[in-house]
Amino acid sequence: MQAFDAKLARLIDDMIETMYEADGVGLAATQVDVHLRLLVMDTSEARDQPQVLINPELVAHSEEWKLNEEGCLSVPTIYDQVERYAWVTVRATGRDGEPFEFKAEGLAAVCVQHEMDHLLGKVFVEYLSPLKRERIKTKMIKKARDEQGRRGR
Ligand code: NI
Repeated sequence: MQAFDAKLARLIDDMIETMYEADGVGLAATQVDVHLRLLVMDTSEARDQPQVLINPELVAHSEEWKLNEEGCLSVPTIYDQVERYAWVTVRATGRDGEPFEFKAEGLAAVCVQHEMDHLLGKVFVEYLSPLKRERIKTKMIKKARDEQGRRGR
C-alpha cells in the first residue's frame, strides 16, 4: 500500500521535472531507480498537463494494433517501430490518492503502454528483432567506449 505523503509528492514533482527537462513524454519510477509502480506522462501539445499514474492497470484494449516510432530516455539515440494496442483503458490512482480510469488513444496510448512496460522492467527494444537488438547493443557498447576514451584523454 502506497502512502500518499509529502515524500511521494516530492518524488512525483521530481519525476515530472526530469521528464520535462529530458523532453520526454513519459517517465517511470523504475527509470530513476525507484521501485514503485508509478509513472508520469504528458502527451499534451503545450506540455502543461502532467498525468500521474500509481499502480496502473490495463482494463481494456483495442483489437487493433498500431505501429509507432518509439524512443526512450533509457536507450538514448535509439528509435524504432513498435506495435502496440491502438487504444487502451487504464485504471490507476492519482497523486491525490483517488482512483480514476481513462482511455488513451494516439500518442497517449503509445506512451502509457511504453511506461507500463518499464514498471515490469521491460524496455521497448525488447520487441525488436534479434538482429536489430544486436545492432543496438553494438552501438551502445561503441558509444560507451567512445565516452570512456574521451574521459581518459
Ligand atoms: Ni522509456
